[in-house]
Amino acid sequence: ADDGHAVSRPPVVTVMGHVDHGKTKLLDALRKTDVQRDEAGGITQHIGAYQVRTEHEGQDRTLTIIDTPGHEAFTAMRARGAKTTDIVILVVAADDGVMPQTVEAINHSQAAGVPIVVAVNKIDKEGANPDKIRSQLTEYNLVAEEYGGETMFVNISALKREGLEQLLEAVLLTADASLELTADPDMEAQGVAIEAHLDRGRGAVATVLVQRGTLRIGDSIVAGDAHGRVRAMLDENGNNLKEAGPAQPVQVIGFTSVPGAGDTFLVVDEDRVARQIAERRQAR
Ligand code: GTP
Ligand code: NA
Ligand code: MG
Repeated sequence: ADDGHAVSRPPVVTVMGHVDHGKTKLLDALRKTDVQRDEAGGITQHIGAYQVRTEHEGQDRTLTIIDTPGHEAFTAMRARGAKTTDIVILVVAADDGVMPQTVEAINHSQAAGVPIVVAVNKIDKEGANPDKIRSQLTEYNLVAEEYGGETMFVNISALKREGLEQLLEAVLLTADASLELTADPDMEAQGVAIEAHLDRGRGAVATVLVQRGTLRIGDSIVAGDAHGRVRAMLDENGNNLKEAGPAQPVQVIGFTSVPGAGDTFLVVDEDRVARQIAERRQAR
């Protein structure tokens, strides 16, 4: 699609950090929801994808935000998260400091060449020491602007909903300074499956992130060795969509089997082609 036309798209932002440092709570605060309360044991086990709207320099802006688990068992999800994102928000609890999955998230992000914005969370807590976080992170080449470096750090409390506007501001400044946020909406859709499962009533349900093009009802789709036809699409609030454009996360119903998390997807002209590609991959 070299001759296609590129239009601006939202930045894709992945929230990473050590277990219980407040990633989901931050998403809840931004979305005014309470996903965290409903999680088993308070532990995130899946990737969730949402869109958040804000005003930035007089313009309405949308951000696509992906939540990842911090538990050590989910290394692969964090690695994938770092690869499919434009920016990482690294959440570090100010009372706990830099921990193993903080370091792991930094390593994945830096390996993928993804800029990091640091959210120093839980500043409402007794014993919170946001300056200590800044000095700890210099060891990992994350030097705060106020220390003469290039990384934006923002103190927040996801619980008290403090610092959230400044955080979104920092993310958009970082995005606009370092990234080309465009995609061609006219081509056939391509992207990545970020989570998929079998639902008793609806069959295979895949949350996909459209990276280029526009995904539409009726499209023939192949993701990894799964294929199908898009029967329905839902946004994060369960609203039915007819189409989904660049940087939009959407639940797709219509795969004949469950794609793998991290599988790339593409739309092809005919069901037959989708099936052939999937079968060839299954045979490998
Ligand atoms: P995993 O997904 O399991 O890695 O955890 P997480 O990083 O998503 O953390 P989560 O949002 O589940 O929050 C963990 C705990 O910290 C919960 O009890 C939250 O209520 C609490 N918490 C999150 N943010 C804040 C904050 O700003 N201040 C205080 N005091 N507590 C917070
Ligand atoms: Na948690
Ligand atoms: Mg979580």
